[in-house]
Amino acid sequence: MTAQLIDGKAIALKVRQDAAAEVAAMLAAGKPKPGLATVLVGENPASQVYVSSKQKACAELGMESFGYKLPASATQEEVEGLVRNLNADPKVNGILVQLPLPSHLDEEKVLGAISIEKDVDGFHPLNIGRLAQKGRDPLFVPCTPFGCIFLLEQMGVTLEGCNAVVLGRSNIVGMPAALLLVRKNATVTICHSKTKDLPGVVRQADVLIAAIGKAEMVRGDWVKPGAAVIDVGINRIEDLNAPKGTRLVGDVCFDEVKDVAGCITPVPGGVGPMTIAMLMRNTVRAAKIALGE
Ligand code: GUN
Repeated sequence: MTAQLIDGKAIALKVRQDAAAEVAAMLAAGKPKPGLATVLVGENPASQVYVSSKQKACAELGMESFGYKLPASATQEEVEGLVRNLNADPKVNGILVQLPLPSHLDEEKVLGAISIEKDVDGFHPLNIGRLAQKGRDPLFVPCTPFGCIFLLEQMGVTLEGCNAVVLGRSNIVGMPAALLLVRKNATVTICHSKTKDLPGVVRQADVLIAAIGKAEMVRGDWVKPGAAVIDVGINRIEDLNAPKGTRLVGDVCFDEVKDVAGCITPVPGGVGPMTIAMLMRNTVRAAKIALGE
């Protein structure tokens, strides 16, 4: 292994400790506990796990969490009505509607109903629109891409002027990650299923963010020697040697790329822990905005 390992667990822990210290200082100053409302619609098992991890993180950092569960049959009006109630609730500083929503619901309308001051996921069209525009600043930045950029900066990777390639154009990761990189003055290429000569394009990258959802797609010979590689993928593959018969891998073939890249995130323990850490940071920020700070 020649690449430096990017320890997302350790970096996320530091972000969480800083957020906990801010919460403690707010409480010591007689201010209310920051509060995060989570909205889970339906029974998606992965979403249930993510939401309970977010609630657990709130408790660990001394924050309140308010969990709302709606059945998969919930109507658009019911979900938007809940969001409007949470907008009006002063104990709630951040609102997180776990995605994906059941397919009969209009995600854009639900996210657009969240007050931008409570949009700790940064998915409100106004926050995303500001992210995309020069001279404008979103109140919040989506947590996973924010975590990716944070990791790169912590590793001392130069983003200004670099060639950055983002694999994937999802609303949750790829597109906001690309927008953040542009704001850092990187030259950004966004790749997707129709990109021609994907290995050739990826090979130009000084910084690669892989968020395409395909197990071990990025091979060692796709990567420029010394590149910084951030692997957002979490894919379960069969492995008969593993105790459960399966194991988690990223979108990058770690075993090959670790001998080529300059630094690389592992899966698990890379980007994963950063998403919740950045959510906690955003929630503290939302509480401060609510206090007029
Ligand atoms: N689903 C997958 N990632 C996320 C996220 O960061 N926020 C929300 N709300 N839903 C998600």
